[in-house]
Amino acid sequence: MRQLTLQTKRLTLRPYQLTDAPGMQQLAGERAIAATTLRIPHPYPDGVAEEWIASALERAASGKAYHFAMVLTETDEFLGSVGLTVQREWERAELGYWIGVPYWGRGYTTEAAIEIVRFGFEDLGLHRIYASVFANNPASARVLEKAGLTYEGRQVQAIKKWDEFLDTLTYARVKAT
Ligand SMILES: CC(C)(COP(=O)(O)OP(=O)(O)OC[C@H]1O[C@@H](n2cnc3c(N)ncnc32)[C@H](O)[C@@H]1OP(=O)(O)O)[C@@H](O)C(=O)NCCC(=O)NCCS
Repeated sequence: MRQLTLQTKRLTLRPYQLTDAPGMQQLAGERAIAATTLRIPHPYPDGVAEEWIASALERAASGKAYHFAMVLTETDEFLGSVGLTVQREWERAELGYWIGVPYWGRGYTTEAAIEIVRFGFEDLGLHRIYASVFANNPASARVLEKAGLTYEGRQVQAIKKWDEFLDTLTYARVKAT
């Protein structure tokens, strides 16, 4: 399926372009973004954003993942990222997102997550959407709750982040039948 552009009240969620790389490097390069995510490096080396965008475009073309650039419609500013990694075999996907620190606390990620959950169920025809957050990331847990995902459980010391074992919390929502 060709990746379409989605609209919310304030945001445009569109396929990535290589020209997003400098904005992505600047925003994702902040320590606070790496601190509560699994795969974003810190420091954030040159070239990583370009490579990640190229791979996101490939994964979208093969239906393996749909990552969207989160853009403020009014100003065309790049704010961050939201997307689904799809496991077709089980008709499910993992939801992930980050937003640049200057834009925190304005409800943008919630707005984007609600639309991506709709996209997953209605446009991709998925059955289950889930996410795992570090237990020390209540803001992300709140975003998931507001997007209609329900807390399913805690995994004790499930990941190692910067030499510390951390618990994760799983949230999920299944398609209404
Ligand atoms: C987590 C993150 C995506 C939240 O983005 P955001 O755009 O600020 O989120 P929103 O404004 O839509 O909503 C945040 C909610 O969390 C709440 N919140 C923020 N800090 C909180 C805290 N310490 N404890 C409890 N709730 C908190 C806010 O009050 C808000 O809820 P409300 O609308 O009910 O008041 C952002 O902080 C981020 O990118 N962090 C780094 C990367 C990351 O953690 N990604 C997710 C990995 S699972």
